[in-house]
Amino acid sequence: MKLWGGRFTESTDQLVEAYTASIGFDQRLAEVDIRGSIAHATMLGQCGIIPEQDAQILVDGLKSLLTDVQNGAVEFRVEDEDIHMNIERLLHERVGPVAGKLHTGRSRNDQVALDMHLFMKVALQQIEAAVRELQTALVEVAEKHRSVIIPGYTHLQRAQPVLISHHLLAYFWMLERDAGRIRDAFKRTDMMPLGAGALAGTTFPIDRERVQQQLGFAELYENSLDAVSDRDYLVEFLSAASLLMMHLSRFSEELILWSSEEFGFVELADRYCTGSSMMPQKKNPDVPELVRGKTGRVYGHLMGLLTVLKGLPLAYNKDLQEDKEGVFDTLDTLLPALWLFTGMVKTMKVREDRIVAALARDFSNATDVADYLVRKGLPFREAHAVVGKLVLYALGNGKNLTELSLDEYKAQSALFDADVFETVSLETVVNRREARGGTAKSAVEFQLQLAKQKLGLA
Ligand code: ARG
Repeated sequence: MKLWGGRFTESTDQLVEAYTASIGFDQRLAEVDIRGSIAHATMLGQCGIIPEQDAQILVDGLKSLLTDVQNGAVEFRVEDEDIHMNIERLLHERVGPVAGKLHTGRSRNDQVALDMHLFMKVALQQIEAAVRELQTALVEVAEKHRSVIIPGYTHLQRAQPVLISHHLLAYFWMLERDAGRIRDAFKRTDMMPLGAGALAGTTFPIDRERVQQQLGFAELYENSLDAVSDRDYLVEFLSAASLLMMHLSRFSEELILWSSEEFGFVELADRYCTGSSMMPQKKNPDVPELVRGKTGRVYGHLMGLLTVLKGLPLAYNKDLQEDKEGVFDTLDTLLPALWLFTGMVKTMKVREDRIVAALARDFSNATDVADYLVRKGLPFREAHAVVGKLVLYALGNGKNLTELSLDEYKAQSALFDADVFETVSLETVVNRREARGGTAKSAVEFQLQLAKQKLGLA
């Protein structure tokens, strides 16, 4: 007999039972479901809606159930459909018919909404902490290699040299925005839907503020219809998670490129790589590859939930049960990705020898030669053309701009003097970019200080 079986004359078709049940995935809500019920039962007693001693029996039973759930000592049944009815049945087995009083003034519709809000508050805090850890790792590595110069790219072609610390800190600021989005989503998650009933509120004199206080919610929903049908906060989470994964995926792509023989700028630690079953020499960057690959499923979950929601009339519809698997899978994809990245970044080796060798075949100081001519009075467009010719000449003669003689410079423009050699040194090129946000050592030191302040480290 189902908890709701009163008006039914035949038992549920087995396929329907399997198709509509959510216990397979919503058992993850067991703890928050019980915590919510403890607060609800306590309030029912305090408001005189059920006798105080019954409330006490419910609370004690729920607490012992919580311990057993935490120890994995309970068994959930698919016949009981979802976590809410499983918990109620388990409570019944423990405390008898008084368990039937727990659901007074409450519906599964506001109950499941409450559970997801409670669950996501913890999850968002975990994500923010994991983002902070990764940011800390980036700052550490940036500080350790603060003056290493690498080629900077646009169009994946050498463009202008930058400090590797500057490059890594770019990810710090992306993650800073991510942390902001997570904190912002937290505000809409920190709202209590309980007390909405099925959709219209309840006839019992419940005290929502009391429950709100006990469960530690900053706000409560002011409209019962909105309370049971709102999943905006989950969309916000999936959207913030999608951006976060996109950032990790771009970072992945760079680590994969950088650890290839062709670049060779970094080497990932063995413990973050895997080998090949056939090719003995291989060391593959599987972790960043998988993070890049798994970004797709997170985007999918965002699209999935938006699509579930777009045609739903108020208030609760069973479609809303589809909010959970994508959200859970996103968490299970995102959190380990952040943890893995933190370890991978901390342990990666920066290969200065390879970086220096790469810079020796480099024209990323060409803009600065053009700027040099501009300072000597040539219009930028003309300077651009002169340096273009110079680069063409150097390429043809197997040299870079630091290796040309003064005569070779002068052959392109009489404005060149011996001070051009100071101009083309990569240190000069980098350190001239001193304006705030630039790659000069002084600007990056300033940036590092700001980053540490954001982390509370300075
Ligand atoms: N398992 C349901 C869900 O996840 C709980 C709410 C069910 N409410 C209902 N009236 N069938 O959405």
